[in-house]
Amino acid sequence: MSEPRKKRVLTGVKPTGVPHIGNYLGAIQPALELSKEYDSFLFIADLHALTTRQDPAHLTEQTFCVAATWLAAGLDPSRVVFYKQSDIPEIPTLAWILSCYTPLGLLNRAHSIKAARQEGATDEDINHGLFTYPVLMAADILIFDTDVVPVGKDQKQHLEIAQEAARKLNLAHGEVLRVPEPKIDEAVMTVPGLDGRKMSKSYGNSIELFASDKELWNKIKNVKTDSTVYGQPLNPENEVMFEIYKLLGRPEQVAKLEAQYRSGRTDPNDPASKPFGWGDAKKALNEIVLERFGPARAEYRRLMNDKPYLRKLLAEGAEKARTTAAGVLGRVLDAVGIVR
Ligand code: TRP
Repeated sequence: MSEPRKKRVLTGVKPTGVPHIGNYLGAIQPALELSKEYDSFLFIADLHALTTRQDPAHLTEQTFCVAATWLAAGLDPSRVVFYKQSDIPEIPTLAWILSCYTPLGLLNRAHSIKAARQEGATDEDINHGLFTYPVLMAADILIFDTDVVPVGKDQKQHLEIAQEAARKLNLAHGEVLRVPEPKIDEAVMTVPGLDGRKMSKSYGNSIELFASDKELWNKIKNVKTDSTVYGQPLNPENEVMFEIYKLLGRPEQVAKLEAQYRSGRTDPNDPASKPFGWGDAKKALNEIVLERFGPARAEYRRLMNDKPYLRKLLAEGAEKARTTAAGVLGRVLDAVGIVR
């Protein structure tokens, strides 16, 4: 089980929701950074998406959307094993085996289920897939001998369940499964949305990475600003557009914009230059989004218009992933005594 190799990192992404700048800076970019250092597995958790009701056509589209998003953001499929969960039949097989080693109590305490119950859902409303979500997730992770899983707070408990499932099986049959470690990135950024709250699809305050130019500008144009008179200095302190700009612009661009805010002039060194007002601040934000994500936006469109290519790429990724998965599953089958 332990010939020396690079540490393996694994990340799963559910094909729900439209990617925005918060996802990019908080999740996509850090995962791509990690892939330079680790042996990296990244997958689309399409089976997990089914735990909540999905419109089938939408789920299909979202699956391609996630694939195109990561590729457009710079994922290099020759370095990252990139696949969708549903292409790896070893995963549900392992999930079943793990489910026979995972205590019911542990799953009963999982917060996905607790949250649903607190919101009034009864056992008649909650589907079995949601209940067993953490076991499928454990299989996603354990099937590849994963060392490290980057997790946000919301997924920490799920990772603990994966560790526990691995330990329980190991306790019964010896060191069969590698117990993964969470990687909790303290520096992970929370990107503010256009209303100052955390950027989130559910708040409607997000800047979507791949919205059309027109949609993008509409979103930014409608940001609420204070009533500073045109030409008077604007306060960049805790101002949401400036905060977002800071995350996207190069230092000299940020410094220039800050000076424009503080002087209320387009040219901060020339009091006679054109005034700089909220409309200009909005244009600056719009421009930096286009500048920073222009190439990715073009690549995303191209990929979304070439689904056969996306399919082929995911199939190739799955093939690579299955080689590893088959090895680990084989070990588990032997350990528990299933004839193969
Ligand atoms: N549950 C994760 C989420 O909602 C997605 C996921 C599924 C995942 N399987 C995983 C993440 C395995 C990491 C590892 O975001």
